[in-house]
Amino acid sequence: MINAFPTHGDRFRSAWLKHPVFKDWLSRCKDSDDKAYCTVCNKELCAGKSELMRHQKGKKHQKSMEKSGFGTGTVFRSRCDINIKSSDHSDLSTVLDEHGISHVLHIVDLRSDTVTQPCREMKSAMVSAALGDDAFTEDPTVKTLEVKVATLLEKEAALFVPSGTMANLVCVMAHCWHRGSEVIVGDKSHINISAKGGMAQIGGIHHHTIKNKPDGTFSLDEVQSIVRNNNDNWSSQFLVCVENTHNMVGGKALPIHWMDELGSVCSQLDVLVHCDGARLMNAAVALGTNPARLVQSCDSVSLCLNKGLGTPMGSVIAGGKDFISRATKIRKILGGGLHQAGFVAAAGMWALDHQVPKLSADHAHARAIAQCVHEEHSSAITVDLKSVQTNIALLHCDNIRVDAKKLCQRLASVTDTESDELEEQVVVMMMPVTDTSVRFMTHCDVRKDDVKAVIKKLRYVIQEYDNMMYLEYKVAT
Ligand SMILES: Cc1ncc(COP(=O)(O)O)c(C=O)c1O
Repeated sequence: MINAFPTHGDRFRSAWLKHPVFKDWLSRCKDSDDKAYCTVCNKELCAGKSELMRHQKGKKHQKSMEKSGFGTGTVFRSRCDINIKSSDHSDLSTVLDEHGISHVLHIVDLRSDTVTQPCREMKSAMVSAALGDDAFTEDPTVKTLEVKVATLLEKEAALFVPSGTMANLVCVMAHCWHRGSEVIVGDKSHINISAKGGMAQIGGIHHHTIKNKPDGTFSLDEVQSIVRNNNDNWSSQFLVCVENTHNMVGGKALPIHWMDELGSVCSQLDVLVHCDGARLMNAAVALGTNPARLVQSCDSVSLCLNKGLGTPMGSVIAGGKDFISRATKIRKILGGGLHQAGFVAAAGMWALDHQVPKLSADHAHARAIAQCVHEEHSSAITVDLKSVQTNIALLHCDNIRVDAKKLCQRLASVTDTESDELEEQVVVMMMPVTDTSVRFMTHCDVRKDDVKAVIKKLRYVIQEYDNMMYLEYKVAT
């Protein structure tokens, strides 16, 4: 059990701040360790345990919490809002309910594969890394990581960057060196949806979206039809971007034959190809091939270390030598120049050696969870089992009886009846991605017992919805 309450008599410490019951509204007072500040009531409090508990249970505070949008109607108020970030995900955690009774929750955070914590071995690799100033290309660990990734992906060179978003932006800007460039991107791609339009805001590059098919590919005929001959009036198209695996379509690995066809279409059109390979290693594991084969037809690749590979941060981009030299300048412009970054690169090195072989377990976990939903044969909550290929899966809601947000809220809360019937208090955190679909991602911090708990919870919640619908039907007929 982690994150237990500080024992009686403890003075104010950061432990109070982190605890689920307090962490969403309590903050430390700058000038005194003996005082705390309630951010919803705007009130200074004495930081002793009984005073804090008295305040937390007080009517005024409860009202302010509700006004501030914290959920009600569930046993665990502090956990029922799915927006609450959890630092103790996938583990046991003790919380107090509104009556001051403590409960042990089994929390499984499946919102993203970025929620992982570095394990002990990864941390010790980080601590013992050889360091130098990367601005002088003198960090030996960064250099080793770059060579390792370039070799893995069979490209001439590689460059370490702080994040996946920056990796994609650097690649797009390094290819579209001229002003007035246009990039072709899938409408459901991360670059299109979740990068804050960085290429337009910062790079002066605009994009042409093309409809992603349910398998993450797009029509190559359409690519051919929209690429124009260079002309003084038209923007020049230099680049097509793909995403592998494709996040928003449910973690699909792009078929190898399609990547080959894309490569030959683009080389005929004299257009380059960039692969957002945030989860390229998952794709390689799912397709049973080496990652280099998947990016054979790509001029650049970005590979995230902080997704399925479980590092705290970092991505590596790979491509030709000239491309990487331009990318290095752009990384600097974007503020991504690094110094003793070997500390983080060491986590990446460790992850490439030790986490990749474990990705198939993450995929099996996602499949087991999807399988249980499938076996419930519910009409309100369904899954397309065939489409679950990697660590990402989508649950579909009928949107009449249950919508995606409500389903996530229900999974993240525990009712009295449920705790009695399941004899375990399981909180499952997932993400609504549209009104009708919920995404979950498995990752290296999800263990077998977590999967069991998620399955138990999902079966319970699905049956609850189905029973409710049956009762409504009975009443109506
Ligand atoms: C497909 C894809 N590309 C890029 C990114 C951005 O990565 P980062 O969060 O490291 O910026 C993400 C993040 O989830 C992603 O899913």
